[in-house]
Amino acid sequence: MPTYEIAVIAGDGIGQEVIPAGMDVMDAAADIVGNCELNWQRFDWGCEYYLRTGQMMPDTALGTLAQFDAIYLGAVGFPGVPDHVSLWGLLLPIRQHFDQYVNLRPVRLLPGIPGPLRRSAEDINFVCVRENTEGEYSGAGGRAHRGQPEEVAVQTAIFTRKGTERIIRYAFDLARREGRGKVASATKSNAINHSMVFWDEVFDQVAGEYPEIAAEKYHVDALAARFITHPQTLEVVVGSNLFGDILTDLGGALQGSLGIPASANLRPDGRYPSMFEPVHGTAPDIAGRGIANPIGSIWAGAMMLEHLGQAEAARLIMQALETTTGERQVLTPDLGGSGTTEEFTTAVIRKMRSL
Ligand code: NAI
Ligand code: MG
Repeated sequence: MPTYEIAVIAGDGIGQEVIPAGMDVMDAAADIVGNCELNWQRFDWGCEYYLRTGQMMPDTALGTLAQFDAIYLGAVGFPGVPDHVSLWGLLLPIRQHFDQYVNLRPVRLLPGIPGPLRRSAEDINFVCVRENTEGEYSGAGGRAHRGQPEEVAVQTAIFTRKGTERIIRYAFDLARREGRGKVASATKSNAINHSMVFWDEVFDQVAGEYPEIAAEKYHVDALAARFITHPQTLEVVVGSNLFGDILTDLGGALQGSLGIPASANLRPDGRYPSMFEPVHGTAPDIAGRGIANPIGSIWAGAMMLEHLGQAEAARLIMQALETTTGERQVLTPDLGGSGTTEEFTTAVIRKMRSL
């Protein structure tokens, strides 16, 4: 029976609340199915650590994390530390160093949670594939003449052929694997006349290798509108780092709460660990009250188990999650309920034991 070594970075704010919830659910799933064990090692990195040490994580952190089978992350960022410091001090270095170039975010409705569009579950069921290592978040750029009238800031988006091709190819392979008939590309090649024209060219080239899958290009602004007006036409959406980031928060909103969506940062060849996290941030407005919705972190846990080859445990978690939301007995306040993080988590675990 395999034992998986999992690095846990709960991070800041509600990360400290939803990550223990997800760990309890995964432990219970592993226990019930009986095919694996999970060995958690917790790291107290994040904004408090930064205020103590001047760093979000130690210099040795990436080397330490490289030894693990997977990374389970809450979120980082809290008032008192600028967001670009927290993001560039932890999350983005992990994604880039381990070349976790796929950010995978399923968008679908859970039973009992109709979402703001009041659509059926068949209408909202697609997967966003976001480029995760370059593009607009490459970090290239700088500032000169700080504080002077002639001050200038340059932020350069980087699109390489390798980086662009592999993410688009991942999207088509995913469509093929999951029997989804269409890949929609988020572009903006009318206004962004170098990188997005290049993105479109690569998209057309790769699409040519998948004749059975329809390929559509949409300008990202029109695609955002389409998320609202025609979500039933979306099956796989592929976009750059920035476009994917924005579109997937919109996707989360369609699911009924930003507390629901989950994401996987994948290094597909497995040479380095992949990282699993809820899409949401640290929610300082509700942190410390025990009412954060743990669905995103529990769902991310299911994605992690699936990635590790524990499909049965992953399925059990999703079944229990969906039965629990479908019954609507216990829901957190963001979904109109009055339940706590702990009450919802206990309900999911109880459901797993009775399924
Ligand atoms: P956020 O996702 O933390 O919160 C946005 C809104 O959604 C808030 O009203 C919050 O209460 C609500 N919300 C989010 N997750 C929820 C949950 N599980 N249950 C119930 N309600 C939930 O985004 P925001 O406010 O833009 O950022 C707050 C901090 O989080 C910032 O420091 C930001 O940089 C950081 N952040 C970190 C991320 C990461 O580490 N992956 C991702 C996004 C933001
Ligand atoms: Mg985001």
